[in-house]
Amino acid sequence: MNLKGKFLLLGILFCNLWSFGQTSKELAPLIQNVYDRQRISLNGYWNYTVDPLETGYYDYRRRPNPDGFFKDHQVDNINTYKEYDFDTSPVMPIPGDWNTFSDNLFLYEGTVWFRQQFLYTPKSDNKVYLYFGASNYETRVYLNGERVGMHEGGYTPFNFDVTDFVKSGNNKLIVKVDNKRRADAVPTNNFDWFNYGGITRDVMLVEVPQTFIQSYKVQLKKGTSNILEVKAQMSEKMAGQSVYIEIPELKIKQTITTDASGLATTEVKANPALWSPQSPKLYAVKIVSGKDAVNDEIGFRTIETRGREILLNGKSIFLKGISIHEEAAFRNGRIFSEDEDLTLLNWAKELGCNYVRLAHYPHNEQMVRLAEKMGLLVWSEIPVYWTIHWEKDYVYANALNQLDEMIERDQNRANVFVWSIANETPHGDARDKFLSSLAKYAREKDDTRLISMAMERNDKSKEVLSIKDNMSNYVDIVSVNQYVGWYDGTNEKLDRVRWEVDYDKPLMISEFGGEAVAGYHGDASQIWTEEYQAELYRKTLNMVDERMGYVAGISPWILKDFRSSRRLLPNIQDGFNRKGIISDRGDRKQAFFILQEWFKKK
Ligand code: GCU
Repeated sequence: MNLKGKFLLLGILFCNLWSFGQTSKELAPLIQNVYDRQRISLNGYWNYTVDPLETGYYDYRRRPNPDGFFKDHQVDNINTYKEYDFDTSPVMPIPGDWNTFSDNLFLYEGTVWFRQQFLYTPKSDNKVYLYFGASNYETRVYLNGERVGMHEGGYTPFNFDVTDFVKSGNNKLIVKVDNKRRADAVPTNNFDWFNYGGITRDVMLVEVPQTFIQSYKVQLKKGTSNILEVKAQMSEKMAGQSVYIEIPELKIKQTITTDASGLATTEVKANPALWSPQSPKLYAVKIVSGKDAVNDEIGFRTIETRGREILLNGKSIFLKGISIHEEAAFRNGRIFSEDEDLTLLNWAKELGCNYVRLAHYPHNEQMVRLAEKMGLLVWSEIPVYWTIHWEKDYVYANALNQLDEMIERDQNRANVFVWSIANETPHGDARDKFLSSLAKYAREKDDTRLISMAMERNDKSKEVLSIKDNMSNYVDIVSVNQYVGWYDGTNEKLDRVRWEVDYDKPLMISEFGGEAVAGYHGDASQIWTEEYQAELYRKTLNMVDERMGYVAGISPWILKDFRSSRRLLPNIQDGFNRKGIISDRGDRKQAFFILQEWFKKK
């Protein structure tokens, strides 16, 4: 990261502190590729206490209580009283969302306290970090009664240095998770997916040497297909540290040295077989420094635009995609296992996709790694969704922190080709300033991927559709969510509309679709039927073929029916958004086969 980037990141930390915990503070820089580190899983059954009034955090005058639940006082409950007891509280499997764990908690939005205990023996030459894959939404962490730190954001990893908190023998980890929606959060209190609360991804202790490889990036240098750019950031900001990089299959062995910021960089000539959906080639990469060593499997590819085309490895590609929420098929809860990732990705492959839009937030790390191995390109997005409070600095710091965590985690994944900074946000100067700053930061942090966002239409007339958005100047791909045939007219309108899009940039249709109840059949003019949804797909795809030949890709909304508390129509929606082309029970609707056939011809 260049000097400017560092100042920006310092600014984030300052905003965090200034905002008094509105976002995240005491966070340690994210340890990348934790699954290849020395780790101790803390997954399992944790005791939990549901605390809607946050009695465990505030006193009766709503002041933070220094003697809260996180102290986990052991009292004899005879002479002294305490009004909580983790020992006798129920248990819940972690990772997981509480909503689908217990009917009593299905619609619960508030605080739940969790406690996990673990035996540990500190090792003098190690540091130990506490890592969360994700926790929705505001997470406060205490270890052995001491505050470790806080993180805000429900879909990105975070970690704390707990070297000075762990002790020999039994340790008590207590976590306060609050999934209350807030207008000044990211996302806000208004979004069209289910507000699953809890520690929704893996929790682990990560043991690293005193000085370790914090993060690294090994990708083709922007604009080349034969120069690898290598960056390795050491945990210590110190010059002169040796870092050894080896890619055996490319006969690369090189030792580089860090600068005063602890960053070692080099460029190496190489002719790797390029990663692509047809040939998702990954190379074993080993990075060693001092007592630390990290292994990864990394693919190399180029991604760029040329006029209205997207070029993968220099060749024009049409992105045959589908949008996906991180919700398990059949069980319909927040995904927490690789198997559940695989079910959705296999459906995308069955559909004939070469790309998946992981909406509207970063999905778990395994989902991205699995998609990479399966040859699926990934659009990765932060939940800057709808009506964000653009003018608040701490909201920007929160969004920037989530963007930074998303890029930091997945910057070595060849299949991630787009960082998306927003979805369907209302136009305005404050919004343009907020988003263009995010776009600038993403480019500075990672110039090897494209920037986009899902925009909305603003039409010239009822039947001449266009996209006029200032943000088109700041993105590489103009992408639009359009719902002609559902929110805008009925299916017959699709035969009449035409588009006037005059950007010399690729255009993607990031969303289109309509709802259907699987198994509900009728005339194609009858909404909510499978026939209506199929007709909408048929006519939309025909519109693309006949009047939008320049479109570079599509990711219809959406692979699977998903829970949403906005969707209340009895006997039709029942708390689900029915735009899936597969039902929440795994039934393929007619539209699935329409899209599958169309992809075959692309
Ligand atoms: C919007 C939004 C989605 C939402 C969809 C719908 O485009 O991006 O999050 O679910 O429309 O209304 O179904």
